[in-house]
Amino acid sequence: MQEKIIILDFGSQTTQLIGRRVRELNEYCEIVPYNKFPYDDPSVIGVILSGSPFSVYDEKSFKMEVSKLRGRLPVLGICYGAQFIAYDAGGSVEPAESREYGRAKLEWVDSADELMKDIPVGSQVWMSHGDTITNVPDTFRTIASTADVKNAAYRVEGEKTWGVQFHPEVFHSTCGTQLLKNFVVDICGGKQDWDAASFIESTVAALKEQLGDDKVVLGLSGGVDSSVAAVLLNKAIGKNLTCIFVDHGMLRKNEFRDVLHDYECLGLNVIGVDASAKFFSELAGVTEPERKRKIIGKGFIDVFDEEAHKIKDVKWLAQGTIYPDCIESLSITGTTIKSHHNVGGLPEKMNLKLCEPLRLLFKDEVRAVGRALGMPEHLIKRHPFPGPGLAVRILGDITPEKVRILQDADDIFIRGLRDWGLYDSVWQAGAILLPVQSVGVMGDERTYERAIALRAVTSTDAMTADWAHLPYDFMAAVSNDIINKVRGVNRVCYDISSKPPATIEWE
Ligand code: XMP
Repeated sequence: MQEKIIILDFGSQTTQLIGRRVRELNEYCEIVPYNKFPYDDPSVIGVILSGSPFSVYDEKSFKMEVSKLRGRLPVLGICYGAQFIAYDAGGSVEPAESREYGRAKLEWVDSADELMKDIPVGSQVWMSHGDTITNVPDTFRTIASTADVKNAAYRVEGEKTWGVQFHPEVFHSTCGTQLLKNFVVDICGGKQDWDAASFIESTVAALKEQLGDDKVVLGLSGGVDSSVAAVLLNKAIGKNLTCIFVDHGMLRKNEFRDVLHDYECLGLNVIGVDASAKFFSELAGVTEPERKRKIIGKGFIDVFDEEAHKIKDVKWLAQGTIYPDCIESLSITGTTIKSHHNVGGLPEKMNLKLCEPLRLLFKDEVRAVGRALGMPEHLIKRHPFPGPGLAVRILGDITPEKVRILQDADDIFIRGLRDWGLYDSVWQAGAILLPVQSVGVMGDERTYERAIALRAVTSTDAMTADWAHLPYDFMAAVSNDIINKVRGVNRVCYDISSKPPATIEWE
């Protein structure tokens, strides 16, 4: 049985980060809503309570019966989690007089305490709450303080319950990883046995059991997630997996051919469907961005459905959904950050059971699994690419000629990034075809041609992004190359907007 740490999510923006840090310690964990603790699961070895946007004394703050966990399992409260445990036990939590936001230093540490092992006085910690625990109950003992926060960390006497008012999961808490390790390994007894190889072994076994001799279809996009899901399933069920890769005509230059080739080399049973004519005809004359997306989304489902029906007795639809797509915390505070686009609606329409072998992994773990499965590095490190492809990078209506121009410009940009060793330093990059023409001169001729915008961003999760500060020499070389080689373009611009307020894609 895979031992696990449960992280109770009270809605903090850093809950996912706690999960990542625990996984980085090679310990398996799951994030569940604050009121959904799996009391019947014997594999849980410890519990972490996350932060929250609320104050414990707010009427609408999230509450649960933490007394049912205390004494039974090791418990660590972080920020709101720490305040909640103290408040629940009769302590006082009040708005802080001097709000200690951001960096602070531990001025006193009880280094004999297990949680504080190897955490020196002077360590930097990250605070982000306007409240503070002003009084701890009698059985609570302070184990660390900062200049402004006396009870920066506490322990409950006689039981394995701790609370820290700072955030060990954020990078700025220099001792954060050590503290989480003290909790997860020393206190909970975690064996640190979670890694890509163990994930592959247990998942392949579970897939064999779950799928038996059933047939499965999977939609490949060329991206990391669906590719890794396919290779994993292929390892488990081999030829019972059929992958479908649809070319809607708006992929990158040569991408359909190259990616199909990669998939065949990986031994996947893959059907490539060139449906570009259908998409071009349905998109003709359409300029409204959302309409374009809808047409492509529906067209994709139709083509996929038609192909899947050619395979006899398919029972399952597999998808490369990953953990951040699933975590329910988004619905806890009522904010949907990103809605899911590509194959939404497919399972319902096809009446198939859903198989999502990566649903518990973070993106970097998906990459690690891909590597451990022997997939080539260029597939694993691929930049994200939107499902509707170049359609959302051609402003205005779409024609095959515009796609050709954009593919050529994009190809020069992306190849340039690789040649200059810049590809891995940006999150994603691409070219956008603008709906304007401008005057230029070539030789003795006046030109009146199209403008291309280049976009390259740095990011960790695509929720926020900054424009990449690429070297001027590189941009000069790419601009020259595009204007000289791509017929129909006489001007190149660079997009210097961050997200928010701009988005990564223009449409
Ligand atoms: P935005 O433009 O919202 O994009 O800043 C955030 C990230 O999502 C990608 N993106 C999509 N991915 N289907 C996808 O699979 C889509 O319809 C889609 N739209 C945007 C975008 O490339 C970026 O990585």
